[in-house]
Amino acid sequence: MDGVKFLHGMQIPPEHHLRIAEEVSRMTREYQGIMLVKAPAEIMPQLKKEATVAAVIERPEGLELVGFVTLWDLKVEGVLELGTLGVFSQYQGLGIGTELVRIALTLNGKHRIIATAKTSKAITALIHGGMAMWDFTSLPLAIRATTCCCSGELGVDCTKADGACRLLKANWSKKT
Ligand SMILES: CC(C)(COP(=O)(O)OP(=O)(O)OC[C@H]1O[C@@H](n2cnc3c(N)ncnc32)[C@H](O)[C@@H]1OP(=O)(O)O)[C@@H](O)C(=O)NCCC(=O)NCCS
Repeated sequence: MDGVKFLHGMQIPPEHHLRIAEEVSRMTREYQGIMLVKAPAEIMPQLKKEATVAAVIERPEGLELVGFVTLWDLKVEGVLELGTLGVFSQYQGLGIGTELVRIALTLNGKHRIIATAKTSKAITALIHGGMAMWDFTSLPLAIRATTCCCSGELGVDCTKADGACRLLKANWSKKT
């Protein structure tokens, strides 16, 4: 992780926002099927929020994006969804994904946060970063209906995530 800096939303210089948003969008397309594809325009507003953490390396030509995570507002019961978590392949396995999750959870400790993941690498990073595996059916219906892999099926018979998706939660005990 030498040389990698972790910047939360308020720390990302505005002049880098467009470039970072484009890189995040590229990452989501690279991992299409595992990550939900996002357009730069969807990422831009998130870059101003504490809920976002970017892992970057300072290069003479500018900031190189290495990894990213953000918390999307589900607009239901104050719950946030940790998503758009990714690390470019050449930087994976160095603890960067885990650190992104850890920082995002630490900065947003007053919120209840959920995430869904289907690869063991993502699940491991989320657990090491501070989340716990949970059961879809334990979530209120309104929240289940808004998560990326449960809409329509409410997490009972999830077709979008081919049945492999896992739910993780953080900070839940603070409000229930
Ligand atoms: C999932 C992803 C974000 C993880 O990021 P990463 O930087 O590669 O993950 P980390 O380096 O933090 O963790 C990976 C390894 O470090 C280990 N590790 C990290 N922190 C650790 C800790 N505190 N203690 C022990 N082990 C730890 C993990 O067990 C894991 O080991 P493994 O590679 O042998 O399984 C990344 O692989 C990725 O972008 N994948 C493609 C897109 C994707 O799947 N996104 C998630 C969608 S939900």
